[in-house]
Amino acid sequence: MIRVAQFKEFNGPQALQLEEVIEPVPGPNDVLIKVTAVGLNFFDTLLLRNKYQVTPPLPFSPGAEIAGVIERLGTDVTDLEAGQRVVAFIGGNGCREKVVTKARNVIPIPDGVSDEVAAGIPITYGTAIHAFKDRAKLQPGETVAVLGAAGGAGLAAIEIAKLMGGRIIAVASSGDKLALAREHGAHEGINYETEDLKARLKALTLPKGVDVLYDTVGGPAAEPSLRAMAWEGRYLVLGFASGTIPKIPLNLLLLKGCSMVGVFWTSFVERNPVAHRANMVQLLDWCEKGLIRPHVHASFALEETAKALSLIEARKVTGKVIINPQL
Ligand SMILES: NC(=O)c1ccc[n+]([C@@H]2O[C@H](COP(=O)([O-])OP(=O)(O)OC[C@H]3O[C@@H](n4cnc5c(N)ncnc54)[C@H](OP(=O)(O)O)[C@@H]3O)[C@@H](O)[C@H]2O)c1
Repeated sequence: MIRVAQFKEFNGPQALQLEEVIEPVPGPNDVLIKVTAVGLNFFDTLLLRNKYQVTPPLPFSPGAEIAGVIERLGTDVTDLEAGQRVVAFIGGNGCREKVVTKARNVIPIPDGVSDEVAAGIPITYGTAIHAFKDRAKLQPGETVAVLGAAGGAGLAAIEIAKLMGGRIIAVASSGDKLALAREHGAHEGINYETEDLKARLKALTLPKGVDVLYDTVGGPAAEPSLRAMAWEGRYLVLGFASGTIPKIPLNLLLLKGCSMVGVFWTSFVERNPVAHRANMVQLLDWCEKGLIRPHVHASFALEETAKALSLIEARKVTGKVIINPQL
């Protein structure tokens, strides 16, 4: 038997229960992984309330990205070994002592990267590299504004855009969050709770405006951000952590000759697994070389999964929250 944190009704973090289920058995092309770290993300909180794009089959465990040690290989798996440390995006059901996933999903973790750090890389950093490289086609010297800059997705966006030569403006709700964003490479900071977002974005990007805007927050910050865009700017639509999907006056796109560009990383992974794997290998290499520094807010035991998800909902998390099912 293995321990799992799972929910059987859509009622937020309080619905999570610690239970025992039968240990899964790997099929011919699968691996069984002893999970040492699970990265939690904002969308786990949406899944728990059935507010995400997809409704998960119940019972379901949060946690779509995991790291751990391969314990058993399926009979047809030849390119991996038992005992190897690996990271994988598995889509969900990660908050478990052991998981089975397809061998093609797993990527070896370099020696210089811990399991805890590796588990937080696929979704946030994977999204950032896909967004700036494939969707915005960010160029060196361009200005990049990141909303929700101290969250998991936000800090990853700052680091990746900076590595690509961007000049970064962090936007967040407190001085502490902006200080952390600066530690991760932001050149400027705007507090959107206390400052006029449009005026400050324009002032910091004179005379042109913002070239690329990374929006994981939506809500009331969206329109003032769009009004500060540069001619031929790219406004990246990633998510709505504020809880409100903004409605945009389309004339602004016409007047500014700018684009709004959707980014959906999980769909990209499904549609282009080869490019996803190349991005992951690149990110793990950058991490080992110290060129990206994933920030772990805190690690929790499996029985504390509800507490960890409540912190995300309460907007109290910076960087990533990790669950270690072996604690
Ligand atoms: N499209 C994609 O492929 C993709 C990929 C990854 C993530 N996402 C989306 O990106 C968003 C952020 O994900 P994350 O994992 O980085 O989350 P996170 O670490 O919890 O960060 C979210 C940030 O949003 C801001 N925020 C504003 N209003 C909020 C509210 N009412 N509740 C919570 N946070 C609020 C907070 O920053 P301030 O306090 O500074 O405002 C917070 O730091 C989510 O909507 C997620 O679904 C999308």
